[in-house]
Amino acid sequence: MDRRRFNSLCTGLLAGAAGLHTQSFANASETSPPYPESKLFYPDNTPVTLDSLDSGKAYVFSYPYRTTPCFLVRLGASAPGGQSWPGGLDTDQSVVAFSAICSHKMSHPAKPISHISYRESPVTFYDASGTKQTRQGVISCCSERSVYDPANGGAVLSGPAPVPLAAIALHSDSSGRLSAVGSIGPDQYEQFLEKFGFRLAMEYGITDVRARAADKTEIVLATDFSHQQVLC
Ligand code: FES
Repeated sequence: MDRRRFNSLCTGLLAGAAGLHTQSFANASETSPPYPESKLFYPDNTPVTLDSLDSGKAYVFSYPYRTTPCFLVRLGASAPGGQSWPGGLDTDQSVVAFSAICSHKMSHPAKPISHISYRESPVTFYDASGTKQTRQGVISCCSERSVYDPANGGAVLSGPAPVPLAAIALHSDSSGRLSAVGSIGPDQYEQFLEKFGFRLAMEYGITDVRARAADKTEIVLATDFSHQQVLC
């Protein structure tokens, strides 16, 4: 498939995903390089469907490269779309996915340990005005304590992170089966692969760390993906 056709396909998929929420997704074709479509599967090879996702359980999957980790989670709240992202999937817009690479210094879930995680339980932090906040359902990076809001496009709630997490565009077919179809917003994939490529190659057991995600990608519970989760 040539590049133009693939671009067009991805744009159509993204527009379709956005259309499920009757949310506009402005400039997708201008901001998104040709990302693969990767259907999400559980380790036992059953497809991931909207109905199969329980609130509060976070999963890790690789996208848009085979070595770039993302979070998939059904939030306990609705995640309506906005100008820069299409919002969550399902009728309550609660199913979201984000790159799990912290926009500060690229802390990420690795197999031995993760300093960044989705937190179903309340987390306390100080917002930009210095006010103490306690919120559940956030993504927290304990490296230098950045906190992100997955119900609001991965926006930064606290800490040194300069920009939101890159959002992963999801699509659900008529049976509710989920696919990852794109990445939205500022991302650090290239810098990430450059910095951690050697370790990623060993950790994932592949030689080409820049290989795009396959047409199927496996989701694993975040608590199983990393042997140790650092919470703060
Ligand atoms: S790497 Fe996440 S806060 Fe610094």
